[in-house]
Amino acid sequence: MAIQLRPWKAEDRAAIAALCDAVDRRFLSDRLPQPYTEADADSWLCYVRQHDEKEGLFRAILVDGEVVGMISAEQKQDVYRKDAELGYSLATNRWSQGVMTEAVRQFCPLAFAALGLVRMTGMVYEENIASRKVLEKNGFVLEGTLRKAVIKAGRGQNLCIYGKLNPEAEG
Ligand SMILES: CC(C)(COP(=O)(O)OP(=O)(O)OC[C@H]1O[C@@H](n2cnc3c(N)ncnc32)[C@H](O)[C@@H]1OP(=O)(O)O)[C@@H](O)C(=O)NCCC(=O)NCCS
Repeated sequence: MAIQLRPWKAEDRAAIAALCDAVDRRFLSDRLPQPYTEADADSWLCYVRQHDEKEGLFRAILVDGEVVGMISAEQKQDVYRKDAELGYSLATNRWSQGVMTEAVRQFCPLAFAALGLVRMTGMVYEENIASRKVLEKNGFVLEGTLRKAVIKAGRGQNLCIYGKLNPEAEG
């Protein structure tokens, strides 16, 4: 199984729409449109074109050449600008095969270098065990828990804050 990251292309709009429409939303923000259409994918691709390698890094995840997921780092601003928030999601039929663990492993050095980061932050609902494992297997450390910080489907959940430092950064 070959796992690769590459920049997004306009031709990915159908794949993005399919991926985001079917994504498991239990642990994601409610901002993601539902249903998620190709027009939503176009708006997002436009955002990516404006921000990629400036205030963020956005990459498609490919398994054996097929787009199966997405991964991004969105840089913070002002005094927090040396930090970026990591985000990712994967098509359900590819879960538990080590795909995201490998994608995060490849992505971290790219994001650190492209954005000049000192650290990266992962914010994960406490019950999202798979995502927490992905971060922990990539050297992210649990730095704290925001109690009942999330309200999802009418239920309060704790939010785990994970951090990874850039080994190459001095700041
Ligand atoms: C979270 C997500 C990216 C994980 O991707 P993945 O490729 O399946 O992850 P990996 O296979 O690399 O590793 C997952 C680990 O969690 C474990 N796992 C998977 N589901 C689990 C569950 N329900 N409970 C406990 N462990 C679980 C796997 O066994 C694996 O651990 P192991 O390597 O020790 O065996 C994927 O489930 C997803 O896209 N979820 C929906 C979107 C989302 O939640 N994004 C993250 C927001 S912070």
